[in-house]
Amino acid sequence: MDRFLIHGPCTLSGSVDVSGAKNAVLPLMAATLLSRGVSRIRNVPNLRDTRTMGKVLETLGAQVTREGDSLIIDSSGVVGVEAPYELVKTMRASVYVLGPLLSAMGTAKVSLPGGCAWGPRPIDLHLKGMEMLGAQVELEGGYVVAKRPGSRLRGGTMDFSTSSVGATANVLMAAVLAEGHTVLENAAREPEVAQLAEALVAAGAKIDGIGSTRLSIEGVKEIAPLQVSVIPDRIEAGTFLCAAAILRSKLKVNKVRPAHLGATIDVLQSCGCSFEIASDAIEIDGREADRALNAVTRPFPGFPTDMQAQTMAVATLLEGISVLTETIYPDRFTHVAELRRLGADIRLDGNSAVVKGVAQLSGAPVMATDLRASAALILAGLAAKGETLVDRIYHIDRGYEQIEEKLARLGAKIERIPGPPTP
Ligand code: EPU
Repeated sequence: MDRFLIHGPCTLSGSVDVSGAKNAVLPLMAATLLSRGVSRIRNVPNLRDTRTMGKVLETLGAQVTREGDSLIIDSSGVVGVEAPYELVKTMRASVYVLGPLLSAMGTAKVSLPGGCAWGPRPIDLHLKGMEMLGAQVELEGGYVVAKRPGSRLRGGTMDFSTSSVGATANVLMAAVLAEGHTVLENAAREPEVAQLAEALVAAGAKIDGIGSTRLSIEGVKEIAPLQVSVIPDRIEAGTFLCAAAILRSKLKVNKVRPAHLGATIDVLQSCGCSFEIASDAIEIDGREADRALNAVTRPFPGFPTDMQAQTMAVATLLEGISVLTETIYPDRFTHVAELRRLGADIRLDGNSAVVKGVAQLSGAPVMATDLRASAALILAGLAAKGETLVDRIYHIDRGYEQIEEKLARLGAKIERIPGPPTP
């Protein structure tokens, strides 16, 4: 198992290009099942998760080819309806094939994802949404088996009890081919959901309210294959902004949509970072970052839960007491114990982390526990004095494209080293 060896502290400088958004491309890939033919998705990051979703589609009979930064997905030969446990257990987002398969093929058999590193993460809202569209849903042997009684699903209304990115995207994909009108209230309006809706509209779907919490869908009989370029990854961009803040550095982050990063920018501004914002680039000056910060995770446009761990790394070296409160996943704090190993002073109080800034972190061996926790440990390792060894970095390979190369080009001392052979 590979590890990262980091020598800190360091200062970063220069500019970095952000890759396409993991959480936007995964539903787009699943949505290629809604039509028969060749879809082309551009600006696709080469990640473990995009490769896993490619395997899910291939298992169903699609042909998935990478050409440069594009994925060409030919769904003409899709005959399968099952997303197997072996793939779903490695990536929960495999559940995105549920809606498209059900709507386009009439049946879907998708393994239940189970828990994740920081809690249960249910998919009850995905299932309720399919039932609302007329599907019969049963659980059999660890699988969700969903069936469409007629030749099409039928429109309906759903008011999501919790704002859910995954359930909104899944039900939206199922609803575009349903007969009649569907209304989704309290829908998630994350940029990744908006991109999915826009790509579906470009292919012939009828969706109103894109970017709002009320999506109104008029079902159509068919849509064309997708042609879309993936939006920049706002969480990767935010991670580089946090790198500049914790390393008191000046950086230019290119190929971003600044409007997707408003809450992250506000939090970093509150601790003393300054920004110059262009239409597709953000320059951050983190040299004056010194004041404690407060952040509460919320659905978009609020502060993203996917930035909580990296922001906590920044807070470990700010003067005073910072508080980070997690409202989306109350237990998403597996990074806390590892940050403490680097010398951070963090106390958990319910769903809040209370971080007392220290003068210095010091290098140590640490273990990555999930994707964003890994990013936080890398940032803290770059700021810590001495050598930090981050184990289990397969988590980071799920969602950050060439992170060590991008950081090294900015001046970080970080290298990937092969781990010891597994006993
Ligand atoms: N929820 C339910 N029932 C459901 C679905 C969700 O109760 O059926 C709850 C969750 O437990 C949570 C809240 O709703 O409390 C929001 O979860 P959501 O469904 O929005 O999360 P998700 O779709 O499973 C996506 C991202 C996550 C990101 C969350 C929140 C993808 C592939 N994943 O997950 O990204 O944290 O939205 O923004 O888009 C990551 O990239 O590291 C990551 C974990």
